[in-house]
Amino acid sequence: MHVITDIEAMRHYRQGQEGKKIGFVPTMGALHAGHLSLIEQARTECEAVIISIFVNPLQFGPNEDFEKYPRELKRDIALAEGAGADVVFAPTQTEMYPRPLVTQVVVAEITERLCGASRPGHFTGVTTVVSKLFHIVQPTHAYFGLKDAQQVAVIERMVEDLHFPLEIVPCPTVREEDGLALSSRNRYLSKQEREQAPILYQALTRAEANLLQGKYKSSAHLEEDVRTHITSQPLAQIEYVEALTYPDLTPLTDLHSPLILLLAVRFGDTRLIDNILLNKGEQ
Ligand code: PAF
Repeated sequence: MHVITDIEAMRHYRQGQEGKKIGFVPTMGALHAGHLSLIEQARTECEAVIISIFVNPLQFGPNEDFEKYPRELKRDIALAEGAGADVVFAPTQTEMYPRPLVTQVVVAEITERLCGASRPGHFTGVTTVVSKLFHIVQPTHAYFGLKDAQQVAVIERMVEDLHFPLEIVPCPTVREEDGLALSSRNRYLSKQEREQAPILYQALTRAEANLLQGKYKSSAHLEEDVRTHITSQPLAQIEYVEALTYPDLTPLTDLHSPLILLLAVRFGDTRLIDNILLNKGEQ
């Protein structure tokens, strides 16, 4: 497996792969089984698999965890290799941002709600770095986890609007045995917070069962019921619980078409997100 840190060498590798199916998994490192499942899926579907590891300062707000975000390059390289990656592209900050950017990629509307409302500038940081990475790596397929469903929707929209010649492959969320969605931020949870955090997935699956039984009169009723259930755990501080259309993330007109139920909840300083796609079979 190759470890590449500069853009020129990355482009050179890519030129040698002309005509192949190239799978790309962009990450910020601190790899867990969720990332490894993306690499494994890319391995089965593509002829070359490239993963990037880059903690992107543009997508962190001034009071967020950029400084303390885990950086474990040696361990990550070994894990990526074990999962079947051919290349780890791990550029430095100066390689990616040799001087302050005056160019940004901005996706409007869909980025203004949910996580975008409480993290201003976050999605512009994501779409800008992902555009740069797509230009450098030139994948034919890019793999993203559906735990960050809004991120997937935003990137799909950017790829469509800007005619990036590649396919976005959304992949299922990987969970702990008790249902907690895997995230590099789960390690920030205290013992007590970790014990209470499974309430998120419990609330989502409970809502799914209730919806199937026709227990909800409206999306507001569904959201309120989920909020009440989550607040049974005293450390949970809800940021949002919303049921929306997917992938457009617009308000629902009925509860029988495909929808996504999304939530963001804080436990202390740690902000967790999760979601579930419902009525998947209904079109
Ligand atoms: O999902 C992430 O880890 C990041 O937002 C991404 C896509 C690697 C961009 O920095």
